[in-house]
Amino acid sequence: MVDEPGPTEWTAAPAVGVGPHPLPWPTDPHFDPELLASGDRRNVVDHYRYWRREAIVADLDARRHPFQVAIENFGHDHNIGTVVRTANAFGAASVHIVGRRRWNRRGAMVTDRYQHLHHHADVATLVEYAHGAGLVVVAVDNVSGSVPIETVDLPRNALLLFGSESEGLTPEARAAAGMTVSIAQFGSTRSINAGVAAGIAMHAWVRQHADLNRAW
Ligand SMILES: C[S@@+](CC[C@H](N)C(=O)[O-])C[C@H]1O[C@@H](n2cnc3c(N)ncnc32)[C@H](O)[C@@H]1O
Repeated sequence: MVDEPGPTEWTAAPAVGVGPHPLPWPTDPHFDPELLASGDRRNVVDHYRYWRREAIVADLDARRHPFQVAIENFGHDHNIGTVVRTANAFGAASVHIVGRRRWNRRGAMVTDRYQHLHHHADVATLVEYAHGAGLVVVAVDNVSGSVPIETVDLPRNALLLFGSESEGLTPEARAAAGMTVSIAQFGSTRSINAGVAAGIAMHAWVRQHADLNRAW
């Protein structure tokens, strides 16, 4: 038998991020003296190490894609944090929460601090916003009349709208959509997790429209 260390001997995972910045410190104003002094343990790409949060948001604002994301929040949906984090990763311009104002931020892993978040009491308010902003509401759900996201051309100016885990898209959301797309499934389950579906749909947009030379 090979003598290998068991779980209790495994070493703890190394801390995320970087320690204090060696002297001399960079002087550009986007650097945060406190982070330079104590280290930067945030879950940010290396490009933003030691940057002030406002400086990161401003830099992201110049890089964000034109697509936006919305999710209906009519249950106690733990997926919203995942949606926010993924929207951040794929450079969505904004995330809209429709329905309940409160949502569980845990899955967002603090990415909500770098993302533009908006709340709408109902679908009608979201749709009013979308029309004013020149966005096409693309409902994402596997309902009758939906077209496969694998074959469809997504609009650049898409507002990808997801249903809540418990209920799926509300009739109001379905009625408001300029187009409805579904993700192909091959198993026995009726649907996939809303957070997973959101990731797939956002990445479908990325595959069609993003400039991959600008990815980190
Ligand atoms: C758990 S699903 C529920 C709805 C689903 N229509 C059903 O029949 O049970 C919650 C949300 O995840 C997304 N979703 C899950 N599976 C999907 C799929 N195959 N295609 C598109 N969206 C999906 C949709 O936004 C949906 O509203």
